This record gives sequence, C-alpha cells and structure tokens, in this order.
Amino acid sequence: MGDGGVGRRTFLAAMTGSGAAAVAATEPAAAGTADGGHEEEIRALIGRMTVAEKLGQLQQLSWTGATGPGGSQTAAAEQAARKGELGSVLNIIGARHSNALQRIAVEESRLGIPLVFGLDVIHGFWTTFPIPLAQAAAFDPEVARVDGEVSAKEARSQGVHWTFAPMMDVTHEPRWGRIAESCGEDPYLTAAFAAAKTRGYQGSGPDSLKAKDRVAACAKHFVAYGGAEGGRDYNTVDVSESRLRNLYLPPFKAALDAGCATVMASFNTLSGIPAHANGHTLTEILKEDWEFDGVVVSDWNGVGELLPHGFAADGADAGRIALNAGVDMEMVSTHLAEHGARLLADGRIKEERLDDAVARVLRLKHALGLFADPYVREAQAVPGPTPETRRAAREAAARSMVLLKNEGGVLPIAPGKAVAVVGPFADSRDLHGTWAGPGGEKFPPVTVLHGIRDAAGRGARVTYGVGATKAADVVVVVVGEGVKLSGEAASRSDLGLPEGQEELIRAVAATGVPFVVVLLNGRPLTVGNWVDSASAVLEAWHPGIEGGNAVADVLFGRVNPGGKLPVSFPRTVGQIPVHYNHENTGRPYDPKSPGNTFVTGYLDVDRTPQFPFGYGLSYTTFEIGEPRASVTRIGAAELKRGERLEVEVSVRNTGEVAGDEVVQLYVHDPVASLVQPVRRLRGFERVALGAGESADVRFSLGAEDLGFWTNAVDGRFVVEPGRIELFVGSSSTAGASCTIEVS
Ligand code: GLC
Repeated sequence: MGDGGVGRRTFLAAMTGSGAAAVAATEPAAAGTADGGHEEEIRALIGRMTVAEKLGQLQQLSWTGATGPGGSQTAAAEQAARKGELGSVLNIIGARHSNALQRIAVEESRLGIPLVFGLDVIHGFWTTFPIPLAQAAAFDPEVARVDGEVSAKEARSQGVHWTFAPMMDVTHEPRWGRIAESCGEDPYLTAAFAAAKTRGYQGSGPDSLKAKDRVAACAKHFVAYGGAEGGRDYNTVDVSESRLRNLYLPPFKAALDAGCATVMASFNTLSGIPAHANGHTLTEILKEDWEFDGVVVSDWNGVGELLPHGFAADGADAGRIALNAGVDMEMVSTHLAEHGARLLADGRIKEERLDDAVARVLRLKHALGLFADPYVREAQAVPGPTPETRRAAREAAARSMVLLKNEGGVLPIAPGKAVAVVGPFADSRDLHGTWAGPGGEKFPPVTVLHGIRDAAGRGARVTYGVGATKAADVVVVVVGEGVKLSGEAASRSDLGLPEGQEELIRAVAATGVPFVVVLLNGRPLTVGNWVDSASAVLEAWHPGIEGGNAVADVLFGRVNPGGKLPVSFPRTVGQIPVHYNHENTGRPYDPKSPGNTFVTGYLDVDRTPQFPFGYGLSYTTFEIGEPRASVTRIGAAELKRGERLEVEVSVRNTGEVAGDEVVQLYVHDPVASLVQPVRRLRGFERVALGAGESADVRFSLGAEDLGFWTNAVDGRFVVEPGRIELFVGSSSTAGASCTIEVS
C-alpha cells in the first residue's frame, strides 16, 4: 500500500501557491459591486449613448458552433461590433481571434466600448478536470477551487473573460443528464462548492477580475432547474416558496456572497412562471433582497423560449417581459435589440430599467479591466496543460473517486499480480465527460489501460481483452456511460449500464476470477443486477484528462480512496426520487416493525437506496465517536444575534494504512411549523489520518443551520424553540447523535 496518497497540502498548495488550503476571505463581491469605483464613468458614458447603443450592450451573440436558433452569428457580430451595438460574444476562442474582434469594437465604433467574451469553461479549458459531480464526491471544496483557478488562467490567456460556471442546480433526479454538471442532491455541499469554484475563477478582493489569470464567474441556472419533472431536461418545475428557499436558492446566495459577478437564468418554469420572466426570483429575491448588482444573462435563446412556453405573444413581448423581470443581457436571441426602441417609445420598457441593465454590463467590463486594457497578450497565451496542471487534475480525479465495495481485499491490487483489463471503456478516450472545454478535443485523456500498464510497472502481467481473464489473478472491468449519455438534453429513462455491459460483467463473473468494476459515468446508475457478483466497485465518474492514471493510482493503492457519494444511487428507476433529505411522512417505514405494511414505500423494492448520500469506503477503517455539543441549550434570539454552538467529534483510523475519512454532521428538527427533512447536512470535514491516528473535528452551527425558510413569499427565515437532533458519521445514515434545545 502506498503512502495513502499525496498530502493535500503538497500538490494543491504547489498548484495554487497557497499553503492555506480552504478559502477564508469573504471579501465583498468583486465585479457585481457598485463600489467597484467606476459609477461616475458609467453614468457619464450612458449619458452619451444612443438607444441603439444601449440596446446593443444588452446583446450577446454566439461566434461559432451554435446549434440553437442563433446559429453561427460571426458575421452579425462583426457588423454589430463595428456599429457599437454589441455587448458580448460567446464561443470565441483564441487570443488572436478575440483581439481581432475586440479591435473592431474598441477602435472602429463611435464610443469604443470593449466587448466581454464568454465561454462555458465548466471543468477545464485545456486541462480537463473531473466533472463537477465527481469533484463534489471529494467533499473537499479545494478541489473545485483549484479547477477554477487553473481553468481561469488558461481561459483568460486565450481571450475568455467570463465563464458560464459554476452550475449549482441541486437535483434529486439522476435521470437528468445535467446532474453531471451539478454537485448532487444537497444544498449545503453544493453551496460550499459554488463558493469555492467562484473564488477559483475570480480570486478574492475588489480588483481580482482585472488580473490576467482570472475570469468572471456565473451562478447558473437561476433557478430550480434541477427540479425538472421526470428528470427530463427543460421540463416543468412546480415548487413551493419554502422548497425554493431551503433547497434551490442557498448555493446561489453562497456564490454571490463569494462575489460571483453574474447569474444566468434557467430554461424551466417556476410554478407556471418561466425563470426568464420571473420577477419574483430575478428582481425581488436576487436584485432587491440580495442586492445583486451584477449582470443577469439569459440562457441560450431563453428569452425566445418565452413564446413556446406560452408566456409571450411575440418577440417584442418576450424582450419586454424578460427585461422587466430582471434579465439584463440577451444571449443569442435578438428580441430586445430588434424591438427595444419601439418598446421604449411605447413606454412598455422604462429608460430607467434599460439604463440599469446597461450599467450592470458596463460595471462588469470595468471590473474586468476591459476599458483600461481591452486586449489579451497573445504572446502569453497558455498553449496547453502543463505537468503541474496535469498533476492537479490527476489528484482531483483520485480524490473524487468513491469506493463502493471492496471484499476479500481485492483492492488495492498488490504488486506482481496478473491483471486482465476488459470492457468498452478500458482503452476508451471517452473520459472527459460533458462540457469538456477546448482541451476536450485537443488533449485526449490518459486511458485506464494506459494508466494500469504504467502503474503496474516493469515486469507486471497486464493483459487486455476478455480472452486473458482466466489466467489473471484479478480482472478489471471498465464500464460506464459515454459522454453522449450525459449532460444537457441527455436524460435517460433507464439507469442501467448501456449496450451489453451487464452481459460482459456476467461473463467475467462466470470465470470465477475475482473482479473489480470501474464505473465511468456522469450520474448514479442502477447496479443491482451485478453488484453482488463483483468483489469490488470503484465509482470513478468521468475523471478527465488524467483519468486513467488516477484510476490506476487508486487501484494499486498509491491513493487510498476517500470520496463520498454526493447523490443517492437508486436501486431501480422506479424508486426515484430517492434522496437522503426527504420528509418522514405520516407513514414512515420502521425496520423495527416490518409487519406493519401500511407504510410508505414499494412492495417490490427495498425502501433504502442502493448506496446512500455521503457513503464511501476506504482501504482502511475509521471509528467516529459520539458528538459533543458545546451547549445543550441555546436561545433562538441568541442564535439570531449571531451566537453559535460548537459540536466536536473524534475520529480515529483503526486500520493498517493511512486514509481520509469525511466526517459529516446532520441536523434534524423533529417538530417544526414546517415539516423538516429527516436529515440536513450542515457540516463536513475530510480528514487525513495515518494508521492508528485520531483527530477531533469541530463544527460550528448558527441560526442558518438550525432554522428554515417558511412559505412566506416575501421570505421569512425562522429559528423555532424546541429540540434539535444532531447526527455525526461517515454517511447520511450516521447513527451517533446528541440533542440540543433551542429555547
Ligand atoms: C446552454 C446551457 C448553458 C450554457 C449556455 C451557453 O444551453 O444551458 O448552461 O452556459 O447554453 O453555451
């Protein structure tokens, strides 16, 4: 067994030059803040702009590769830039290209207002990191921050100013293809990752976006996109105010508190009102309650989609509704640019609202330093991954892997064993997952077979192909989903392994040779047909550019896996939705009284998920003690005044090798004026411990952890007197508990 993996502080610190790992600073927002110091200039500039120029600032066109209604708008973009009637372009890549277009806007238009260039840099630009769902499984936001930092440096150097990330849609729907881009089913974990990724992209501090290695981030998709009925992408979301505020909104608030410069509206309706037309969420909550003064950008033709939603009568109506609801910039569709002047003349949009939207766009450009320095240094454009960025991606991938099963000590594979590698993904390059950036094409990943051969070292007996299995000591079966089954518009009604992979597993099982299944997938899968026959199962997700090496690092024990599931694995599709943060119902299933049949659940499947949220094994074992609260009582008023209570718990590595454990803290309010989930994650800490070592983990709980939002539309957060149960453990089924009293 190796050294249990490289210490977190070494690689990540080297990568980011920051010894201190996790984020600390909570400086005020960067780009979206009026105190960016350019308000006077912005007001003066708006005073000189024509209506056409103002409307132009609110227009974003796609440069290439568009598949939607906008298609490739290259020619239109150049023309509009020259007329000073364009605010932004997305999908333009390359320092030279962006400088050429920027030169047209800055040097040929009347006012010379620079363009802002956007791109989906979701988990890597050249260096493809694991998909966000994988990163969430690391239960270590530092992984996301490093991805953001590496991506920003590569992207900005190639002319990108603004990424449409992090995506922070909480979802209970593994059928939904975009679960791959999310951080899973819990708002607290998602919020921690949203804030960390934002800081990775933007840095911290008021002027951080001016740096040539940072990009503006975008909190998306606002809001509740992950609640799509049936897990069908773009589908209806009907949500109560309390669920909106307790489940879907918290990650966005965390991202904005971390200074996130922009927000993207979502395609779905929210209780009958499309998100692109929803003044309650876009204006009342986002811009008034949260005082967000950055840019709200529509999602691809989201303004135009108000027509098929049946909410706008025509393009002019769609533009009017979206602007008045709180959309500031229109991506790809051009309804505001086309109809805005008429709408203004007819008083259907107000000049004050138009100027506010323009001010937000200009503020973002100032925050990025584009007025002062609009061009990118072509000589400093980063050409590709470096050994350091590859190492960071490799470590992130290994840190994100979850050991779901390991019997008979099959893993880690001891040196000298004869290893047969089989399966459609064994030597596949389909490891980047959805939304791989430009690096996805240009820099293919290390395959699993290559990684295993490399790791097994000289003289190892690694064979490839089903024929070699009988002579092997252990078979590694590499299966999963190709990228075509994951991401946007890739929802699945069946979550089994596709294309005969289960048959392959059955054939390997029939040989009687112990085997390990490595899963490369972008969502939870139903594994019940074969999981009992495998000795070990490693969830490796879509692991990115160093995926094959990271899988081998874990299989051969150079890294001891410490990831945990950020999303429950259902036993069957019929069980969905199945998630840990559910309500108890009036008929909960009680394992202690199996005779009681009038309870919630199904006749034909177990009530529990195949694997629960927060679950993951290790090559060592851990013991987590009983939680100890600093107080047994605390006043609701004190909590509201900012008082906090500490919860301490000890964790010990009771095995033979070093490893990481993720200690998790869950709260439950058993009696409240709004029925509460049976558990809510309100603390996690990934702890590295040598064999026999122990540590004390401390959590701090405040009002935000012990209270909840009610159904009041104007937003009321309450902390109610009564008992609160606290659970700590290594998954959402944690049993160790204590109770405190809120008085
Ligand atoms: C897509 C996605 C969004 C992305 C945008 C621009 O449809 O919904 O996440 O940022 O279009 O590519």
